[in-house]
Amino acid sequence: MARTALVTGGSRGIGAAISKALKAKGYTVAATYAGNDEAAAKFTRETGIKTYKWNVADYDSSKEGIAQVEADLGPIDIVVANAGITRDAPFHKMTPQQWKEVIDTNLTGVFNTVHPVWPGMRERGFGRIVVISSINGQKGQFAQVNYAATKAGDLGIVKSLAQEGAAKGITANAVCPGYIATEMVMAVPEKVRESIIGMIPAGRLGEPEEIARCVTFLVSDDASFINGSTISANGAQFFV
Ligand SMILES: NC(=O)c1ccc[n+]([C@@H]2O[C@H](COP(=O)([O-])OP(=O)(O)OC[C@H]3O[C@@H](n4cnc5c(N)ncnc54)[C@H](OP(=O)(O)O)[C@@H]3O)[C@@H](O)[C@H]2O)c1
Repeated sequence: MARTALVTGGSRGIGAAISKALKAKGYTVAATYAGNDEAAAKFTRETGIKTYKWNVADYDSSKEGIAQVEADLGPIDIVVANAGITRDAPFHKMTPQQWKEVIDTNLTGVFNTVHPVWPGMRERGFGRIVVISSINGQKGQFAQVNYAATKAGDLGIVKSLAQEGAAKGITANAVCPGYIATEMVMAVPEKVRESIIGMIPAGRLGEPEEIARCVTFLVSDDASFINGSTISANGAQFFV
């Protein structure tokens, strides 16, 4: 039977590319989103991938949503914790609200997504967790103290989950994308985009599909001994 994959924030941007790539590899995929019903409906129409709406920042909603996915599609074998937001401001102007929203969504959201599926993965002796972190969690970024904290936190999460899950057939890894040509990045003024591209030795933005291919590899049986690792996909912009 096909394995079932859950992709949070899987209806748009990098997550949409991940959902499509997993479906193309034969997995049964559930993609979640926060509120953009129109984009989610279009995504389902175009791909046939079921979408589910809940806020990853809320534990009870995540637990209920995950129970619904499992009732519809079967036990979740693969989790891609991709949903994420930015609320950028230089630190002296960052509000507690901006800090909290990003921590709740990007960091607590990973806990809320993985925690409900973890017991089932342990029982069945198989699981794949991939967390989408960021280059800015590795190197820090001006005006992103909140975001960089969450993305660095993701790396601590996967290293710890890897140690707890390894004996139960569960792997947990992170992907750190550099700048990727999603709607968010393409919406910035062309001049700013050009200056970003100027910092990337590859001379271009990454494509969402290039991140999706990292994920399809990490969840495959070929990657069974890769656990607690980080794949950096950033066009040579930064080395750890
Ligand atoms: N784009 C880049 O260059 C880049 C670089 C490095 C890392 N990343 C990371 O890659 C991931 C995806 O980024 P992206 O650029 O593809 O984002 P995006 O295009 O803005 O899409 C974000 C997705 O996450 C969902 N989402 C946001 N907040 C949520 C919440 N509270 N609960 C449930 N779903 C939520 C959105 O749902 P709605 O459609 O309902 O809004 C959407 O499906 C993020 O974790 C981001 O930090 C991105």
